[in-house]
Amino acid sequence: MVKIRYLGHACFTLEDQSKTIIIDPFLTGNPVAAEKSDSIKADLILVTHGHSDHLGDALFLSKKLGTPIFTTYELSVRLEKDGAKAVGGNHGGTYDFGFAKVKITWAVHSSSYGESLNVAGNPCGFVIKMGGKNIYHAGDTDVFYDMKLIGERNNLDVALLPIGGFYTMDSHDAIYAVEYLQPKIVIPMHYNTFPIIKADAMEFKKNVETKTKAKCIILKPGEFLEL
Ligand code: NI
Ligand code: MN
Repeated sequence: MVKIRYLGHACFTLEDQSKTIIIDPFLTGNPVAAEKSDSIKADLILVTHGHSDHLGDALFLSKKLGTPIFTTYELSVRLEKDGAKAVGGNHGGTYDFGFAKVKITWAVHSSSYGESLNVAGNPCGFVIKMGGKNIYHAGDTDVFYDMKLIGERNNLDVALLPIGGFYTMDSHDAIYAVEYLQPKIVIPMHYNTFPIIKADAMEFKKNVETKTKAKCIILKPGEFLEL
């Protein structure tokens, strides 16, 4: 059993019977956040890239809870220098945390750290194997044809995909992502947080379910899906 809870923007928690993973914990300053960072308990923090709407409260949570952050190498080094506990991997690599195996995947985007926009390596997505389920968090990305390989190699139960456009693929290009990834379920994210990433999730759901074999589940911030 895995419970996938949407906390708004690109932030999700994945929970099995005993452990919790939080992905891209942007809560403070997130106009649609379903939780305050103070209420978060997590055993692992995954961060797709250094932009503030993804890194979010990761440093605060890692320091407060002693929880490791798993991300790409260059960002992990910067976070460690600022006091986080961090594990830095790279694309194609998998780290076994015991309760979950997490693979770092490619993402077509950029990454930086801090207000002076220091370069922080490359952005990523994650394939998370937890509770017998395979869950893909795409991070911020355009659609790319190698998503086909991610789909073929990982038998995805769920894909968490950005649909808001402007910084990422939009809801129309995300249909191609669903075709390539072939997940059983797709959950849209990274839309309607700010006016510039406005998207029609109901229209996306209609297109997913008429053009692909996947089912689309729209979670409002705070809602969850149990697998
Ligand atoms: Ni970004
Ligand atoms: Mn973003």
